[in-house]
Amino acid sequence: MAIRPIVKYPEQVLLRPTRLVAEITPEIRALVEDMWETMYDAPGVGLAANQIGVGLRIAVIDTTSSQDPGMRKIVLINPEVLETRGRLNEEEGCLSLPGFTETVLRPSWAKVRASDLEGKTFFAEGEGLLARALIHETDHLDGRVFIDRLSSLKRDLIRRKIRKRQRAGDWPAAASG
Ligand code: NI
Repeated sequence: MAIRPIVKYPEQVLLRPTRLVAEITPEIRALVEDMWETMYDAPGVGLAANQIGVGLRIAVIDTTSSQDPGMRKIVLINPEVLETRGRLNEEEGCLSLPGFTETVLRPSWAKVRASDLEGKTFFAEGEGLLARALIHETDHLDGRVFIDRLSSLKRDLIRRKIRKRQRAGDWPAAASG
């Protein structure tokens, strides 16, 4: 197991849809172990594989520190959001955009279908933090970050702050490709 560096926005791997996992290999299991270790070290409640530079459709979520009922620790292989309900404004951040938090309007309930590490299909559904994490992470795997869910005004403000920090050498410049 290893803690891997977390890729920062706007690195290309965060902006592209990830590839489906065709088979659960030992390499995939090792990757998931690294994702857990990296997420807990950060610390965060969720991590998508492309946040450590791997363009595969895998995410891990652990919302069990929350007081909300029904919180879970789950590995999601090839997750798809099947259904959402409601709307809720909550503060949100992302390990790939450290230091930035914004209120994001998201569904208040979500249901996702995914495979587990045995290759078996399962469903994860929930509200509150779990719903938010399920959608935030599947967004990552679709090449979207939370600032894509903000108004263009707020998003541009954050992008300008990042460019300013890049010029100051205080934020990694995105590699091309
Ligand atoms: Ni994130």
